[in-house]
Amino acid sequence: MRESHVRRRVGGSYHPEPSELRLSRRQVLVAGGTGIAATALTACAGQTAPLLRPVGAGGPEVEAAERARQVAGATTASFTVNPGLATVDLGGVTVDTWAYDGVVPGPLLTADVGQTLEVTVANSLPDPTSVHWHGLALRNDMDGVPGLTQSPIAARESMTYRFSLAHPGTYWFHPHVGTQLDRGLYAPLIINDPSEPGAYDAEHVIVLDDWLDGTGENPDQVLDRLRSEGMDMGGMGGSPASEELGGDAGDVVYPYYLVNGRIGTAPQIIDALPGQRLRLRLINAGSDTAFRVALGDHHLTVTHTDGFPVQPFTGDAVLIGMGERVDVLVTVGDGVFPLVSLAEGKDGGGLALIRTGAGAAPDPDIRPLELVGRVVTVRDLRATDDVLLPERRPDRTHDLVLEGGMDGYQWTINGRTFDRAEFLQIRAGENVRLRFVNRSMMFHPMHVHGHTFQVRNSDGDGPRKDTVIVRPMETVVADLVADNPGQWLTHCHNIYHGEAGMMTTLSYVL
Ligand code: C2O
Ligand code: CU
Repeated sequence: MRESHVRRRVGGSYHPEPSELRLSRRQVLVAGGTGIAATALTACAGQTAPLLRPVGAGGPEVEAAERARQVAGATTASFTVNPGLATVDLGGVTVDTWAYDGVVPGPLLTADVGQTLEVTVANSLPDPTSVHWHGLALRNDMDGVPGLTQSPIAARESMTYRFSLAHPGTYWFHPHVGTQLDRGLYAPLIINDPSEPGAYDAEHVIVLDDWLDGTGENPDQVLDRLRSEGMDMGGMGGSPASEELGGDAGDVVYPYYLVNGRIGTAPQIIDALPGQRLRLRLINAGSDTAFRVALGDHHLTVTHTDGFPVQPFTGDAVLIGMGERVDVLVTVGDGVFPLVSLAEGKDGGGLALIRTGAGAAPDPDIRPLELVGRVVTVRDLRATDDVLLPERRPDRTHDLVLEGGMDGYQWTINGRTFDRAEFLQIRAGENVRLRFVNRSMMFHPMHVHGHTFQVRNSDGDGPRKDTVIVRPMETVVADLVADNPGQWLTHCHNIYHGEAGMMTTLSYVL
């Protein structure tokens, strides 16, 4: 039985070879870890810019930036991670999938800011893979993007990633190969700052996911089906829609939503004491689903997003796009409380329980009122003064126009899919402004590798982030300081949009 997980079924005429994108990506750049070919910038059709030499992923500029991050006497935190085939119990539902160390989410890695992180990835998958350290300002040749910053890790081979940790916060890691992220290959990475213990009694990592692997179609089959069935452009025909997201909520139908690897009928129970202050580190590892998260009978105070601190903002619920992280503080009452991750604009959601005392477990489908209370979004948040990037006149502005292709399942940036992308050239030291201009009817959580940008909201300065939701017909301004030389993938964190072309490269040139 092969149940379709594709939401819409509208004729399309675009039938690419399954290997088309992958093949094209290989053509874009010559992998090798030490550098990329100068032809990369000129090979793109229509490229008229003067010949500028791209900074190589492992070039001297990258080495110098890494040296500047290194702390004298830094110690090393070492781990091994094994991506491989796994049979996983989601709580009464058993699925065959791909996972790190056989568990979903994968193993929690923790280290201290200033330490060197060293992770050996031993690939037991049948396919090549890589690991991307989402959100970290790290050395470019450790960024985990095959074809751009490294060669893929072949089946039965291994690779050791090693880099210094510049910033504390809530991060995560996942492959950057095809649709592997929409299997079970994701895990949290928490970087602590020992000099800043934080005003809370206990912390918990909460990883959210939309799940379909092992339930009929795997993510590659879903992508193939999206391509062969095309898409409708208007978000019509009874598509689920979300007010918070300003339109379409996704392309894919998921049978399950997980919180820390569990379905709602068998939730994880987090024990705490009444009156304790908890820090919850929420991570959206989903591929096509934004989540609206609330804890029944509680307010949430947002303190960080994408690792960086914000001026504390209290609301009832919080919206988290794919790839985003939000840290909240909550002072827990006495009883058993549902932590619900509503699949925004879709049917369903995930559940975990916070238990501080006696009480019946709530119904798995419980929808606490907080979900429809004050929902905190990026527009409510502002960076704390110590991390705020002061507004300077940009030395360079790049627009990224986000559109759905006119022909079949394609998503484009500036009218091009990734295989034909014109790289966004910048130079080290510049103040760079990126303007994400959404001209489609769906939201796109746009992610920039290797940098944390300053969001400028219409009403002023927003938070520092590495992934930001851009709603339909909205423009989001993201300013960054070009202080981390290399070739940095910039893309929609909807994995199906990314694979259907919505990727480009922020390319440091000399
Ligand atoms: Cu989680 Cu290219 O990203
Ligand atoms: Cu998208």
